[in-house]
Amino acid sequence: MAGRRKPRAEGDIGSVFASLSGEEAAVLPPRFRDLKTQIINDADRAALTASWGRLTERLAQAAEEIETAQQDAVPTVAYDDLINADAATVQRIKRAGALVLTDVVSRAEAEGWLADVEAYVKANPQVKGFPADDKQVFEVYWSKPQLEARAHPRSVAAQRALLSLFASAPGSPVSLDAPLTYADRLRIRHPGDSRFALGPHMDGGSIERWEDPTYRSVYAAILSGNWEAFDAFEIAARSAANQNLYDGAGACGIFRAFQGWTSLSDTGPGEGTLRVYPLIREQTAYTLLRPLFREVKSKAEVGHEAYLAPQNWVLDTETTEFPGAPPARSQEFNDDTHPHLQLSRSMVSIPRVRPGDQAWWHADTIHAVESAHRGTGPSAVMYIPAVPLTRVNAAYVRDQLDSLRGGVPPPDFPGGEGEQNFRGRATERDVPGDTARQAMGIEPFEVAKGMPAGERAARQEANAIFGFA
Ligand SMILES: [Fe+2]
Repeated sequence: MAGRRKPRAEGDIGSVFASLSGEEAAVLPPRFRDLKTQIINDADRAALTASWGRLTERLAQAAEEIETAQQDAVPTVAYDDLINADAATVQRIKRAGALVLTDVVSRAEAEGWLADVEAYVKANPQVKGFPADDKQVFEVYWSKPQLEARAHPRSVAAQRALLSLFASAPGSPVSLDAPLTYADRLRIRHPGDSRFALGPHMDGGSIERWEDPTYRSVYAAILSGNWEAFDAFEIAARSAANQNLYDGAGACGIFRAFQGWTSLSDTGPGEGTLRVYPLIREQTAYTLLRPLFREVKSKAEVGHEAYLAPQNWVLDTETTEFPGAPPARSQEFNDDTHPHLQLSRSMVSIPRVRPGDQAWWHADTIHAVESAHRGTGPSAVMYIPAVPLTRVNAAYVRDQLDSLRGGVPPPDFPGGEGEQNFRGRATERDVPGDTARQAMGIEPFEVAKGMPAGERAARQEANAIFGFA
């Protein structure tokens, strides 16, 4: 079992992204060329090259489709239709890898949470946030409304339904039925803001997707030249993957099957909302294959179309480049690093959300935040993901509980004294109900004889990690 984590340096969300911190792309050491060469040599070169041709052709088509569909490329699903999902709904969600889930909690409840977090922030003016002179992404993890929102029965049911879209190998110690709680920040974006502009990125580490052999095995179909067979909803190796080899500020110590937020405001496209690339298989395939290929001629030499053509790209065993994937940062994307995605056409803003709706996106979804907020009200969300019960995740939750008890930022986040001395901070006693207390590691999970072996094993392991022998 992993030892307890060391607290991180103080900071804010600006330290997570190479682009927000204004840092130059670093040249990676030679071992990264060896890593690429090994991956290429483990596959069939002709199969890889052929799959790149098929993929880049598909991406050109996808950019057309997405640009035409706009918000319709992201499914909007009502809460009841997710809980009792039919095959067509499951199919739509699995194809896009992102969705807006409506009517999870009532408007009144969500607006109440916003009023309460605003009061909490006001009562504690020493709060840290980004940007420092006009705080909008707050280093706030332990306000009472956040604890309530994370524990809300309909929110937990939604997490369970999303986790159930994944398959795990029978008998493997993973529970998709007992989601864990992950404490994250909250964002209250002001109208007119254009500074919290998060460019396209993927959570869950960067270079780790290739460098960690377990993580890499998730993408075996793609890396063997058969991206069409990649199943983004297979959980097995993901739950044991190391997403954090460099302990970077952007690292996530937990496996989130879906990242998500709960909206506290009425926010539509153009109002500082989320943008996603709404085809999960295609974007993941391209992300993983991209560093294995290099351009022959530059865009300036041959023009846009010839530049993107498959014959202008060859397998790369010469450079150490993993575009947009510097160690210890998030995986980032732009038109130079990932030209075939045509991000300016294919990143779409999600459909309008109302207070109490949620946005969800798969662990491998490329996402961004609209650069400008042209709306008239706040664009406010609480980040609350869907986290399966696994050994790694349970170990994180054990450490996270220490953070709640101490009133400090959770282990994944910039450290410091956090909310220790904040007025009105939540404590362990504010975690409501057995389900929520189990999800926080405060109480043991029930273990029953009739449960499937993997489910039972996951719960037993978690209970031992939490210290309930
Ligand atoms: Fe993100």
